[in-house]
Amino acid sequence: MLPEANWITRAPSLRSKLILLAKVQDEAGHGLYLYSSAETLGTSRDEMIADLHSGKAKYSSIFNYPTLSWADMGAIGWLVDGAAIQNQVMLCRASYGPYSRAMVRICKEESFHQRQGYEIMLHLAKGTQEQKDMAQDALNRWWWPSLMMFGPSDDNSPNSAQSMAWRIKRKSNDELRQEFVDKTVPQAKFLGLSIPDADLRWNEALGQHDFGSIDWNEFFAVVAGNGPCNSERIEARRKAHAEGAWVREAASAYAAKQAARRSSDSKANPQAA
Ligand SMILES: [Fe+2]
Ligand SMILES: [Fe+2]
Repeated sequence: MLPEANWITRAPSLRSKLILLAKVQDEAGHGLYLYSSAETLGTSRDEMIADLHSGKAKYSSIFNYPTLSWADMGAIGWLVDGAAIQNQVMLCRASYGPYSRAMVRICKEESFHQRQGYEIMLHLAKGTQEQKDMAQDALNRWWWPSLMMFGPSDDNSPNSAQSMAWRIKRKSNDELRQEFVDKTVPQAKFLGLSIPDADLRWNEALGQHDFGSIDWNEFFAVVAGNGPCNSERIEARRKAHAEGAWVREAASAYAAKQAARRSSDSKANPQAA
């Protein structure tokens, strides 16, 4: 949600600002559901957050790209949330209950994010030449990073086989990427925008689109911490954590006080306990 946060104060209308705020709140919630489900495996949230801040834990490559114009809010909702849905719908039926249950709720919210983004793109694409150019520029910059979100190709994805064997993932990275391309190409056509890929064409025999090759050097550089905004994103995350310390302390002190009150009440009046 850091990429979106850049545009909350710059949203072009009250309506678009409210919708973007709601989306960012949803994304904060998704983080909380997923940390809660990961905690059921025995690692505390504090440890996981410390790993994120130290650079030990990985996070999605897509969060390391800058958002340069309002059209990026459209392209992110349409493409990035769209790619997330493609991946997460499959995860709703994953074999690990706490994870799959979190995904059911996440997917409902993601479909709202996708429509939020597509609506912005539609608005710009039907607007002035300048607005249309903004939309095209955003599509040009977000298309390839969105395809990278599905992860390395199947022959170069060491974690996929394990995830498939445990039935966490039920479709491969390449299968999901293909489904995403096939779904998104007609949407771009409807907008009157062109996908920045000279090799993209319909393959009649296979009943799917052929598309150009992904720059995996860029993907692995971003994952390794060398994307355009990696250090800025982690720094913002560390700063927010440090500045929120007093809130966590206050909440813990309040919870301890409530627990002490409950236990003294139950001692004074054991039957009510
Ligand atoms: Fe999300
Ligand atoms: Fe989302």
